[in-house]
Amino acid sequence: MKITRDPLIIGNWKMNPLLVDSAKRLALDVAKKAKKIENATLVVAPPALFIGEVAKVVRGSVLLGAQDASSERIGAHTGDIALSMLREMGVTYVIIGHSERRKKGESETLIAQKVRATLKERMTPVLCIGEWERDHEGGYYAIIETQIRSALQGVSQARLRDIVIAYEPVWAIGGKVSAGPEIVQEMKLFIQKILTDLYGRNVASTTRILYGGSVNEKNAELLYNQSGVDGFLVGSASLNAESFIQIALSVV
Ligand code: PGA
Repeated sequence: MKITRDPLIIGNWKMNPLLVDSAKRLALDVAKKAKKIENATLVVAPPALFIGEVAKVVRGSVLLGAQDASSERIGAHTGDIALSMLREMGVTYVIIGHSERRKKGESETLIAQKVRATLKERMTPVLCIGEWERDHEGGYYAIIETQIRSALQGVSQARLRDIVIAYEPVWAIGGKVSAGPEIVQEMKLFIQKILTDLYGRNVASTTRILYGGSVNEKNAELLYNQSGVDGFLVGSASLNAESFIQIALSVV
């Protein structure tokens, strides 16, 4: 059974742009163009420092995301940003476990803590999973399974529907070559199977599964139609308002 729901398109700006004025301009451009899109949810995740300013220009036409957050609630955590601070700025989606953070040493345990903390603060975790490479023996299945099982430790059946999972094979990230629709479809079904094992079919089918990795305005439609994902996590192409909107238009 295919559950119909609005596609979700999240723009992960990473550490771009460098100037707050450029961030505001990009956000305003996206927000203006987003007005013509009715049946999709659009989210932008600017650098944390700019979220407050970006919030002022998007004013609800586009939702706000954060690229990471602390698993701790408050206190002596130099350099960290609390989930409640992000929520106060208007953030509703929090990217967790992105491969660029995993590469810097973020552990499965920490990722699981962040997922639980985000749910507790009533925001939506966007849990990123993905293998570093495709080996011929199919070792990536085990990697994906471990990442999902560890990140969802302590997440109840009732909360699963509040989580978004983004399948982002690391080899496809970087705005060059995306994974093909067959791979994306296969991995989406595999993720759903693990969720079904953990939580049962009914809840598993309500969890939104996104794809991320070199999605652009040229490949989005085919990827979306042939893989059955619920939307995209977009990096490079989200830095261009027109490209980002074209991606959203190709899935509605
Ligand atoms: P990309 O990045 O679209 O530039 O490949 C995706 C991501 O890292 O979320």
